Amino acid sequence: MKDVTKLVTGRHGHKMERLDVRTVNPSINRGSTYLYDSMNHMSEVRGKARELGTQSYGINGGDITVDWQEAFCELENGFRGVAVSSGLLACTAPLLALLGQGDNLLMIDSVYGPVRTFCDNYLPRIGVSVTYYDPLCTLDELDRLRTPSTRVLYLETPGSVTFEMQDIPALAAWAKDHSLRTIIDNTWGTGLYFKPLDHGVDISTHAATKYMCGHSDVVSGAIVCNEETVREVEAIRDLFGLSVAPDEIYMGLRGLRTMAIRLPVHWHNGLALANHLKGLPEVANVLHPALEQDPGHALWQRDFTGASGLFSVVLSRDVGWEQVDAFLRALKLYGLGYSWGGFESLCVPHRPQAERTASTWPRPGIGDGFFLRFHAGLEDPDDLIADIDQAIHAMKKV
Ligand SMILES: Cc1ncc(COP(=O)(O)O)c(C=O)c1O
Repeated sequence: MKDVTKLVTGRHGHKMERLDVRTVNPSINRGSTYLYDSMNHMSEVRGKARELGTQSYGINGGDITVDWQEAFCELENGFRGVAVSSGLLACTAPLLALLGQGDNLLMIDSVYGPVRTFCDNYLPRIGVSVTYYDPLCTLDELDRLRTPSTRVLYLETPGSVTFEMQDIPALAAWAKDHSLRTIIDNTWGTGLYFKPLDHGVDISTHAATKYMCGHSDVVSGAIVCNEETVREVEAIRDLFGLSVAPDEIYMGLRGLRTMAIRLPVHWHNGLALANHLKGLPEVANVLHPALEQDPGHALWQRDFTGASGLFSVVLSRDVGWEQVDAFLRALKLYGLGYSWGGFESLCVPHRPQAERTASTWPRPGIGDGFFLRFHAGLEDPDDLIADIDQAIHAMKKV
């Protein structure tokens, strides 16, 4: 065999013996092309891949993709998991899968902003109408918003930025009674602390970017489906070629290994910060369902087994833009940046009032000042609290 053929085919004689051992971690399978032994083998594997939702071509990944999908799916007692390349896609792909021309979507008003943009700017182009509902609305109110063409109810508990809790079992049962399918953004619940499919939800989506990956170094999405919805979601994945690189998947698997160890620290640090912040005169309200006085506390206690490190505070009305900016600049241990779920603490300002169309603002008793969303990282809580105090001190000088 000529050298060029040896190099192209990778056949170097295999003189070195291979031993039957393996590393702790899975191999990163890179590949566009699967090879088959025969035409029969090819059609057999391709048929099985369609049935089992696994791979026959590189776009659906390799063994490591199956490991990852199995891991996050099992955490929530799903039927099958679908990996996608971002949390945003994990939210939008199921909408594309379950909705079509002439359908209506009931969408929670507190939905993650870019999903709202997708609903407003893209869904109408494919003939889907979107009706927003207040996260705190009753079933009767929801019933009044429902139309004969409503097909999907989209949930999120607690809500992005404003942290309203929803009664998921009641909503899922109501949706079933009306033949609607349900999708929930369960990023905050992490799969460890809340298991939506156990409560009757059809599809649970995750920004795996956050706690699953957990180190602010990956963008990744996870979709947990029940048996009734999985083929529709897989069809969208295959139709659009929603491929995920094996390196990103490896990072997700690595993150999952320590998620159950990391999360209690995020939870308890978050509560320590929330309790401290609620005693400050500059803070009108703290929105954190694990706080006893939070209006959603009873639902959190009933349905969740823990809390993540993400919550918001509403500042007093007299704290203006310059003061908020001075506070954020003075913080030394909190980065000013989007995303969350990594090892580090973050603090980011929000104006949810500007984005909501179906909720009453200001919500009675909540306050109408600036919102600051905190993410409690894995640092020592005493240091995190001291940093807030010195930044409040700096803010007061402005
Ligand atoms: C609740 C929620 N869902 C989904 C996403 C989207 O995740 P990604 O950043 O991976 O697209 C985010 C991102 O911040 C989020 O906060």
